[in-house]
Amino acid sequence: MGKIIVGKAADITAGKMQKVTADGKEILVVNVDGNFYAMDDTCTHAGASLSEGTLEGAILTCGWHGAKFDCKAGKLHAFPAKIKDLNSYKVVVESENVFLEL
Ligand code: FES
Repeated sequence: MGKIIVGKAADITAGKMQKVTADGKEILVVNVDGNFYAMDDTCTHAGASLSEGTLEGAILTCGWHGAKFDCKAGKLHAFPAKIKDLNSYKVVVESENVFLEL
């Protein structure tokens, strides 16, 4: 378990995504309406980086084949095939900085 700094909360504004490498994993931190969420950056379909996808509200759409994930829990929201959910991670904001807890 560790706490990894992602960046300043003021820099990751609503609708923004920030990819970080932590503990050997690529993790995507997103700001949805002022709340931060984190999940695996690698799409469970064919391995695209979800940081290159698009975020609309809490729904993150993979740029390769369009899988949609709900950022609030990393769960698959919509895709024609059954693929795995993303692992999600805890995010905390302290002293105006965003941290991942792994
Ligand atoms: S790699 Fe993400 S939908 Fe195919």
